Amino acid sequence: MDKWETDESYLTWCYNWLELCIKKLKRNGSFYVMTSTQFMPYFDIFLRSKLTILSHLVWYYDSSGVQAKKYYGSMYEPILFCAKDANNYIFNAQDILVTAKTGADRKLIDYRKNPPQAYNSEKVPGNVWEYPRVRYRMEEYENHPTQKPISLLERIIKASSLENAVVLDTFSGTFTTSFVAKSLNRNSIGIELQDEYVKIGLRRLGLATEFNGVNLEKPLKTYQTEKNESTNSFTLFESNGASVYE
Ligand SMILES: C[S@@+](CC[C@H](N)C(=O)[O-])C[C@H]1O[C@@H](n2cnc3c(N)ncnc32)[C@H](O)[C@@H]1O
Repeated sequence: MDKWETDESYLTWCYNWLELCIKKLKRNGSFYVMTSTQFMPYFDIFLRSKLTILSHLVWYYDSSGVQAKKYYGSMYEPILFCAKDANNYIFNAQDILVTAKTGADRKLIDYRKNPPQAYNSEKVPGNVWEYPRVRYRMEEYENHPTQKPISLLERIIKASSLENAVVLDTFSGTFTTSFVAKSLNRNSIGIELQDEYVKIGLRRLGLATEFNGVNLEKPLKTYQTEKNESTNSFTLFESNGASVYE
């Protein structure tokens, strides 16, 4: 595992891989980067001199894993959406449209048009995206602490790449990016440090059923639940005793 003695040394390392990613990015390519809320301002300042930052996205979710008691727990993760060339980048707006919330049941009419027309009921999503975090009992759950939702990667890959393009994820974890890229007919390159996550990726992508003699078939989820009557919530115990809050 990577470890840094100071914030400065961590940031120096990040600036290094950010530079490498920018070098690899196609002229009309897009770059999405996530990091913690604490470090994002540094990434923002570093990247704005190298790329055009087109959106400051917020991935919002409805509960935090560990509930903070003496400060305001984090309910979001920041994402920067950048392009190398602000005048020439892929953005498939039609593929990611969402329903516009007008607050009215019937269609609103735009009387400034002649003849009057119904307002468009679909729009490009704004910069706050609500997707549930990947939780233990979800079908897509893998054993990784910061697995990203398929739905989040679907929006990003649909919007910013064409079929047969190459999508690179330099910190692949459970290879959600590659998994989604494959389902959308994109190619992908995924990089991951830890063997256990590479194994998950190989299985998820259907690339192997065995790795170094280890069977990669997904083990059955075994868990016990304990209900807290006062909060109506469940605590799930994995077979190794670790608990996950729902
Ligand atoms: C935030 S997680 C990525 C989660 C992923 N998006 C998913 O959906 O599962 C970051 C991953 O980067 C890996 N990692 C950390 N340092 C790395 C390095 N130097 N090279 C490659 N992977 C690294 C970690 O092992 C971890 O799995």
